[in-house]
Amino acid sequence: MCGIFAYLNYNVNRERRYILQVLFNGLRRLEYRGYDSAGISIDDSPSDPNNPQSSSDSLSLLLSPQHLVFRQEGNIESLVKSVYQEVAETELNLEESFSVHAGIAHTRWATHGEPAPRNSHPQTSGPGNEFLVVHNGVITNYQVLKQTLVRHGFTFESDTDTEVIPKLAKYVFDQANEEGDQTVTFSQVVLEVMRHLEGAYALIFKSRHYPNELIACKRGSPLILGVKEISEDSNHGSAFHDDNFLSKNGHPKELFLSSDANAVVEHTKKVLVIEDGEVVHLKDGGVSILKFEEKGKQGGSLSRVASIQRALSILEMEVEQINKGKYEHYMQKEIHEQPESLTTTMRGRLIRGGSCKAKSVLLGGLKDHLKTIRRSRRVVFIGCGTSYNAALAARPILEELSGVPVTMEIASDLVDRQGPIYREDTAVFVSQSGETADTLQALEYALENGALCVGITNTVGSIIARNTHCGVHINAGCEIGVASTKAYTSQIVVMAMVALAIGGDTISNQARREAIIDGLFDLPKKVREVLKLDQEMRDLAKLLIAEQSLLVFGRGYNYATALEGALKVKEVALMHSEGILAGEMKHGPLALVDENLPIVVIATRDGCFSKQQSVIQQLHARKGRLIVMCSRGDAASVCPGGSCRVIEVPQVEDCLQPVVNIVPLQLLAYHLTVLRGFNVDQPRNLAKSVTTQ
Ligand code: F6R
Repeated sequence: MCGIFAYLNYNVNRERRYILQVLFNGLRRLEYRGYDSAGISIDDSPSDPNNPQSSSDSLSLLLSPQHLVFRQEGNIESLVKSVYQEVAETELNLEESFSVHAGIAHTRWATHGEPAPRNSHPQTSGPGNEFLVVHNGVITNYQVLKQTLVRHGFTFESDTDTEVIPKLAKYVFDQANEEGDQTVTFSQVVLEVMRHLEGAYALIFKSRHYPNELIACKRGSPLILGVKEISEDSNHGSAFHDDNFLSKNGHPKELFLSSDANAVVEHTKKVLVIEDGEVVHLKDGGVSILKFEEKGKQGGSLSRVASIQRALSILEMEVEQINKGKYEHYMQKEIHEQPESLTTTMRGRLIRGGSCKAKSVLLGGLKDHLKTIRRSRRVVFIGCGTSYNAALAARPILEELSGVPVTMEIASDLVDRQGPIYREDTAVFVSQSGETADTLQALEYALENGALCVGITNTVGSIIARNTHCGVHINAGCEIGVASTKAYTSQIVVMAMVALAIGGDTISNQARREAIIDGLFDLPKKVREVLKLDQEMRDLAKLLIAEQSLLVFGRGYNYATALEGALKVKEVALMHSEGILAGEMKHGPLALVDENLPIVVIATRDGCFSKQQSVIQQLHARKGRLIVMCSRGDAASVCPGGSCRVIEVPQVEDCLQPVVNIVPLQLLAYHLTVLRGFNVDQPRNLAKSVTTQ
């Protein structure tokens, strides 16, 4: 949901061409967060060394470099093309060198205002680009601020909520100067701006009044700083000390600000995860951090501003993880790497047992809270989209092993209804990104109501990971494809492990527990086997390429598979698709059935198998066009008179079967999309990490 990026080189010569490349590559890494428009700002010339930085007199504005702003509708490559075109037309020198330079960049998923250059970021304070801002999030009180600024003579050119921010910065700056404060600093301006903003944001500011400086701040949306000292030749070098990174030691360095680690890891692994309320000021090669404590939740007054020290952390991520490798698309890569991602998810958490020791599960992030969870009045699973579906797939095994009632909540619906959440509840928040706005709001609500909050996320350091009482990381590795695939299967596996951990080791359920643990050990192998259906799914996709609609029927453990399979087809192949609880078939959906509409029925072996056989019979009797997913060797028992197409999958323990069963449907959605000529990794109108409501 929008990606922001900035690059500042200090005391190291970088040509304009290089600076542009770093900014564009940063945006490419963040493109999955939004791709309907993009923009950057760089300087037109190196700043005058005799011009003291941070001077705020009008002369400094005359001497400071002009900010060149490029904004373009469309994806990053459209921006790149238009920038180079403009560079050529204006004869801007790409070889010009800057010993210090601050550039900012943005890729947008439109919330306020259609995709258009004027609505793209950087948004500006007006003619002269005195203040420029890139923003991820939503400013909820922008209309009030806009009215006030209009009264003060500002004119607005965009429909965005963001435009109030640079204009407010200019207003604050001008006010200070009018009152005779010619020494107002960049961070003072930004702190004052923050004081007026309500909503969620990660912001990066660039200003002609403060050449070669950047300010980043955030509340609610993610933002990290990457630090690379040029003297070190690798990320493992010892030249850099965590305790000196704030100092203005003159060491050549490169600093990166980014919505997420993907855009930073190729430059450095040394990062600082910026926290809510922090204002990070990059100036003279130093990094200083101010933190303000808010009174009240939103737009609270700056009750206290303090300078703080933070230590850098090291990213546990490799560049290879964020490249496509031998695959054409991220979604394809992520589907095919599920055997490995599942292995990583389970690593160190399953105990094989021994002669006198039972097989068991160890979840460090939960162990101190298991008793409380077991005693809860109920477990409430909360999530959106695919994460909700994963929780739905895990619900039956949690109910079975723990005996605790489990209810399901779509995050936005829980918040809309202000549904009941009690102190005696355990609320489990499932989110790949850990930053989905609806889920975050539900988390805030559950915390207010006193529930024990558990986070299941794929993003270490994400807001959900930080703000819950305890939790488990799914460790699926970075997921870049907008359609979630490997995170889904890892989420189910984590929740099955949570069920085992909560269920405890009683004699009565020992055999079942051991079967599940054995099944988990075996799962990566089974997923590798099911991935061999790739070509078969491509052939099926060819048959379905021109269809308008696809129904998917499932029940029990595989109701979730039906919902998730349909969601994949819908979101990437842009084909209407609906997941239907097979038990509901006779209560409406049967009316849709004819000889044209393709229907996938999931009928793998579990407690619902005979019911699914009967569903198939009934659909067959109405000439339904059936594609049946069954356990290997079951084709004859599920396909009346050999009249349907069959997808045979390996059988695993029933509660783990959704992990295997979703794979052919992921492959089908992928191939359908490619064959229909759509962009798999950037589905229309969608973006990963939905940080707005
Ligand atoms: C679908 C998909 C979305 C997300 C949903 C929640 O493929 O990716 O439905 O699952 O937006 O996102 P997270 O899991 O990040 O909270």
